[in-house]
Amino acid sequence: MSTDVVPHSAAPAVRAVTAATDGAMRALGRDLAALARAGDVILLSGPLGAGKTTLTQGLGEGLRVRGSVTSPTFVISRIHPSLVGGPDLVHVDAYRLGGPAEIDDIDLDMTQPDSVTVVEWGEGVAEGLADDRLEIRIERHHDDTRTVHLRAVGARWNDIDLPGAQPGLG
Ligand SMILES: Nc1ncnc2c1ncn2[C@@H]1O[C@H](COP(=O)(O)OP(=O)(O)OP(=O)(O)O)[C@@H](O)[C@H]1O
Ligand SMILES: [Mg+2]
Repeated sequence: MSTDVVPHSAAPAVRAVTAATDGAMRALGRDLAALARAGDVILLSGPLGAGKTTLTQGLGEGLRVRGSVTSPTFVISRIHPSLVGGPDLVHVDAYRLGGPAEIDDIDLDMTQPDSVTVVEWGEGVAEGLADDRLEIRIERHHDDTRTVHLRAVGARWNDIDLPGAQPGLG
């Protein structure tokens, strides 16, 4: 009898999800909220208007936090407290940040343990926040649909059944 051995140090889990509409994007955010725990870090990347804030709105709905999630244009980060005793949502826009040193300056480590920390434009800037993180890259197509690429890094996400299909497995 053979046993499938999947070492926990295996390559990060990757998934791809199609989001045809902004409603589907928000629904994906709600699905991810159901999996999220305090301490989680989620990095969002993708071009201008890809749907990063829309996905974060779904996360906020699913986590049931206070306040509407909008593009934090003039602030770098905003805390949405939980209305239900769960993790808060910390929504960061790293667009204007120069790099990892500047993200250190906003002291996200103060809120991180009790929050789900979501960083728009986090790629290349915010990896240092956590060894375990969910990296999400949104690809925008000409017909306005999106493909959302999920990449789970670190042991936190072992055995978590992420939404979407495993690329290459149909
Ligand atoms: N399939 C889709 N998924 C997500 N958003 C969509 C989709 N189709 C259209 N949209 C629209 O795209 C617009 C841009 O969304 P959003 O503000 O979430 O992008 P963003 O990546 O946060 O942009 P920015 O780079 O400015 O931060 C919104 O008006 C949203 O309703
Ligand atoms: Mg945005």
